[in-house]
Amino acid sequence: MKTVITFGTFDVFHVGHVNILQRAASLGDALIVGISTDELNFCKKQRYPIYNQRDRMKIVNGMRYINLCFFEESLEQKREYILKYDADVLVMGDDWKGRFDEFKDICEVVYLERTPSVSTTQLIEVISSSDR
Ligand code: CTP
Repeated sequence: MKTVITFGTFDVFHVGHVNILQRAASLGDALIVGISTDELNFCKKQRYPIYNQRDRMKIVNGMRYINLCFFEESLEQKREYILKYDADVLVMGDDWKGRFDEFKDICEVVYLERTPSVSTTQLIEVISSSDR
């Protein structure tokens, strides 16, 4: 049994999120997703996500190839999460390329190409500018 783990905010869920989750799932038998908490996002970006963490988790959890979701409370705990969930593979988008190589001692680390031309930040900008 090969377990894959990935992390993200998954706010304003879009096709780039679907693509990376589908491809992550195809790399193993089980996919576990760490959903970053609202507080963690605020610390990182000085703004809260549009969808709260409970709703973001509900959306990701609703996908049929996700086995388990948990809240990622702190960026510093990745190693603990990987060990806790006994993950064999860590998947991240290639916007993070090289940034998680430190975990290669405990799991395989795979960076998948991002889906071009879509991001939550860009969607929020488009929606808020079309509002005016
Ligand atoms: N992702 C992707 N392709 C995209 C957007 C995101 O593969 N076009 C991946 C990211 O690389 C990450 C995961 O989806 O592994 C969750 O990304 P997240 O940061 O929640 O989404 P973004 O749309 O990148 O959000 P933002 O614009 O706020 O950074």
